[in-house]
Amino acid sequence: MAFKLWSMLPLVALATVAVAAPSRQTVCSDGTVVPDSVCCEFVPLAQALQKEVLMGDCGEDAHELLRLTFHDAIAISRSKGPSAGGGADGSMLIFPTVEPAFFANLGIADSVNNLIPFLSQFPKISAGDLVQFAGAVAVGNCPGAPQLEFRAGRPNATAPAIEGLIPEPQNNITEILERFDDAGGFSPFEVVSLLASHTVARADHVDPTLDAAPFDSTPFTFDTQIFLEVLLKGVGFPGTGNNTGEVSSPLPVSSGTDVGELRLQSDFGLAHDERTACFWQGFVNEQEFMAQSFKAAMAKLAVLGHNADDLVDCSAVVPKPKPATGKPASFPATKGPKDLELSCTSKKFPTLTTDHGAQETLIPHCSNGSMNCTTVQFDGPATNFDGDDS
Ligand code: HEM
Ligand SMILES: *[C@@H]1O[C@H](CO)[C@@H](O)[C@H](O)[C@H]1NC(C)=O
Ligand SMILES: *[C@@H]1O[C@H](CO)[C@@H](O)[C@H](O)[C@H]1NC(C)=O
Ligand SMILES: *[C@@H]1O[C@H](CO)[C@@H](O)[C@H](O)[C@H]1NC(C)=O
Ligand SMILES: *[C@@H]1O[C@H](CO)[C@@H](O)[C@H](O)[C@H]1NC(C)=O
Ligand SMILES: *[C@@H]1O[C@H](CO)[C@@H](O)[C@H](O)[C@H]1NC(C)=O
Repeated sequence: MAFKLWSMLPLVALATVAVAAPSRQTVCSDGTVVPDSVCCEFVPLAQALQKEVLMGDCGEDAHELLRLTFHDAIAISRSKGPSAGGGADGSMLIFPTVEPAFFANLGIADSVNNLIPFLSQFPKISAGDLVQFAGAVAVGNCPGAPQLEFRAGRPNATAPAIEGLIPEPQNNITEILERFDDAGGFSPFEVVSLLASHTVARADHVDPTLDAAPFDSTPFTFDTQIFLEVLLKGVGFPGTGNNTGEVSSPLPVSSGTDVGELRLQSDFGLAHDERTACFWQGFVNEQEFMAQSFKAAMAKLAVLGHNADDLVDCSAVVPKPKPATGKPASFPATKGPKDLELSCTSKKFPTLTTDHGAQETLIPHCSNGSMNCTTVQFDGPATNFDGDDS
């Protein structure tokens, strides 16, 4: 008898669990299986973002949306308390004349104005969810990017963040690491992981004389070139020298709309500081490790100011990213191991080939190789620090 009772216990327990937590699993209209029907709202949002702004490209608009996920989320402070900022709360969109006008957010207004129309088009989706989801869709257009995690349910922001919470390229590495720690307890490894984003990034405002100065030679591909190229000896500037937060780059040659590589002082610092140098170097030619580390750190960034368990895991609605090109990291033409400046001595540097060419190769301005790229810019209320809207 005793034996029989025991054997029935697991069945009873299972039945109780099933009754207490009925599954709300749903199949969205496109067939995506999600844990809750709230996720399905993001399926048409992804389509609308691609059709109306991104057009499947990993160009300027995609880069700007990825940067926006960071600038919205990092504006929170454990030491200053909740009144300083709500983290990933969409405050950029709800108060478009406040944070985008901060100097450190120069250029953010473009992405803010490009997202604001989607708030009314998708009134059930909050501004914070929109920002983080748009970034996940955007980076997925860049070959090699991971499929980012996405959780839904951030309440709309109730106040803008204060000024002074966005890291700037002239900050020293102690300041940068402290800011990331204060915002959300990010480790130095997680900070370097987040900087994988600069593989699909270009600057318009560091050197105001330049339009879209790339941080690596492949700004339309989510590859590891950024981690390699920041380790190459700097030889010059793509535009004017002497800009705040900029140091010399290894590939400064510009021609027409094809702008040479621009190096941020902060990227250079992270590549060489003893707290981060080995993490930086460790991503060179480690595509999958870099992508997965970026994904993990982005998951943390995207929920700053929220308890992840209060949000619904809607990762299944994030479109599958374009696959990696499969091309290993390589020295740009004319460069080689002799140009490396390494600060991490405990790690062996990988053996890499050099791209063919007797001269420095120009970095194309558009992902399809043309001089005029397809970009979208909606008018909107957000304006930059200098009052202009470009
Ligand atoms: C130490 C931390 C960081 C600093 C100092 C920094 C600084 C900068 C600067 C100065 C620019 C150029 C903006 C312009 O002139 O137009 C830039 C661009 C960019 N940043 Fe960062 N960044 C940091 C971390 C991040 C993180 C964590 C992300 C994303 C997760 C990110 C994503 C981007 C992207 C995608 C762009 C390119 C925007 C475009 O091409 O329009 N950055 N960053
Ligand atoms: C968030 O605020 C925007 C702008 O005021 C509004 O359109 C939207 O409906 C709000 N969304 C939610 C989920 O509250
Ligand atoms: C970094 O900046 C802080 C604040 O400006 C300063 O106190 C500190 O001495 C700097 N550290 C280094 C290593 O330059
Ligand atoms: C660099 O900029 C500073 C501050 O604007 C200025 O004082 C200095 O003369 C400039 N140097 C060069 C070489 O242009
Ligand atoms: C690119 O666009 C500009 C302005 O829209 C135009 O003047 C120029 O001719 C275009 N160039 C090409 C190569 O299409
Ligand atoms: C690149 O895109 C632009 C803008 O859509 C288009 O005009 C051009 O024909 C494209 N070039 C190539 C080589 O596909």
